[in-house]
Amino acid sequence: MLIKRKREWEIPERDATPESAFLSRRSLAKAIAAGPILLAAGAVAGAGRAAADDAAPDPTAGLYPLKRNERYVLDRPLTGEVWATTYNNFYEFGSHKQIAKAAQKLPLRPWTVAFDGMVEQPRTVDVDTLIKAMPLEERLYRHRCVEAWAMAVPWGGFPMKALIDYAKPLASAKYVVMETFKNDAVAPGQKQFWYPWPYLDGLTIEEATHELAFIATGLYGKPMPRQNGAPLRLAVPWKYGFKHVKSIVRFTFTDKRPVSFWEKLQAGEYGFWANVNPDVAHPRWSQASERMLGSDERVPTKLYNGYAEQVASLYEGLKGEKLFM
Ligand code: MTE
Repeated sequence: MLIKRKREWEIPERDATPESAFLSRRSLAKAIAAGPILLAAGAVAGAGRAAADDAAPDPTAGLYPLKRNERYVLDRPLTGEVWATTYNNFYEFGSHKQIAKAAQKLPLRPWTVAFDGMVEQPRTVDVDTLIKAMPLEERLYRHRCVEAWAMAVPWGGFPMKALIDYAKPLASAKYVVMETFKNDAVAPGQKQFWYPWPYLDGLTIEEATHELAFIATGLYGKPMPRQNGAPLRLAVPWKYGFKHVKSIVRFTFTDKRPVSFWEKLQAGEYGFWANVNPDVAHPRWSQASERMLGSDERVPTKLYNGYAEQVASLYEGLKGEKLFM
């Protein structure tokens, strides 16, 4: 690595369980009582206000709330909406968690989605045409970030299998690569040339057509907030959160395993498979437990983030692979 500057993505171990002082209810109450951190409380309220004031109405708003698919149940309480929408990773808008206000600058329409690479016929569709063609539903999913925080949220959206069927990949395609928008006029993080923009990551076709793989277009019964990856983002709950590409503009089908944004930066720490496993530590911190957003409580992490019964069979026969990093 030629870059000599401090590498921001190499978060120190103390930050692997970060920000509880900023976002947990108890600490926030303490902070407000103490006075000086009122700025932090303002930042939380400000993010909500930004969403209300600056954002144009979403043309899909009338589709929500979606009917919940009761097959997907949680073993824990839902994370409060305020925590899931104000504590985010979206490096395009900053390499910290409080990007919600900055993300309101992202224009959501017109928004097109391209399908290319190894497909019968490459095409580009308007996102509203795509969303209307998909079988929409709500699912309750767990989400586990590689940084050892977690949440449990209601995503609205559609099974990724429906999108793959729509894209019509060739039988020879082995992977699908998802790519985020690139527009440094609204996303100042993309001016940071040492990151390999655009953000991208991929799945095997078997993973992408697994019933749990979901393209999320909404959250908490409403269209997806910009900070969470509007107008569409990936949700693959058995994998670490960095696989969950936000604000997707392109699905490319290929027979070559893609090298993701994070893998390009730090291949020794972020690999292709990135399945959750409490027994395989990140090189700089343990993955044995996780902090639920909005709480100081740590809970034990589960193999495949609790979805082992559904997904473990995808990885049989891949013994030589680093499945958990
Ligand atoms: N997608 C893009 N384009 N840019 C990002 O920085 N961060 C990832 C993922 N998708 C990221 C992204 C990481 S590390 C996580 S944990 C999740 O988004 C966070 O999603 P959330 O903010 O909705 O909780």
